[in-house]
Amino acid sequence: MRENLSSVQTVTADHFFNPRNAGDAGEPSFIGRAASLSCGAHVRFSIQVDETHAVSQAKFRAAGCEVLVAAASVLTERVTGLSTADAAVVGQSPATLSEELGDEPGKAQCVEMACEALLDAIRDYSNAAREDWAGDEALICTCFFVSEHTIEREIQRHGLTTVAEVTRACNAGAGCGSCHQLIQEILATNDLPR
Ligand code: FES
Repeated sequence: MRENLSSVQTVTADHFFNPRNAGDAGEPSFIGRAASLSCGAHVRFSIQVDETHAVSQAKFRAAGCEVLVAAASVLTERVTGLSTADAAVVGQSPATLSEELGDEPGKAQCVEMACEALLDAIRDYSNAAREDWAGDEALICTCFFVSEHTIEREIQRHGLTTVAEVTRACNAGAGCGSCHQLIQEILATNDLPR
């Protein structure tokens, strides 16, 4: 019955029937996509990032169920104004968002898909920002501004051998994840004798 709709059901219905930020972010924008082979749903995020590395615009397009649309809509509102690092942390928490949307049976993957598309857009931004970086030291983790030198120093100082250990030591890799492969390569070239 309509009057018995729980608040979480209302959140999903509200964002499904009145999606926020549908469309495309203004240029220059960074794009992320995710899709499901099993149900054919797909979602596209576009974000615009300002000079302070904050998400100034987040937009989405989705073709899928009400939970996918609601999750994407909620995410666009939540990440607007956040740093890309904080936005990535939001995207890493689909279980929290799923709970807010009522944990509908069989729908967790729809929320995960929306989060993955957001993270993909942040990775697109991070890769571009890394290429554009003109500082003296090579920048590896653009989410947390961690240089190659800092990562090497932490590896040498603490005998780190995994990406997870590097992340714990200096935060590099704790955001969108686009730097994981680079951290892995630094680990390989700094392989310490044991
Ligand atoms: S660049 Fe995003 S986590 Fe390192």
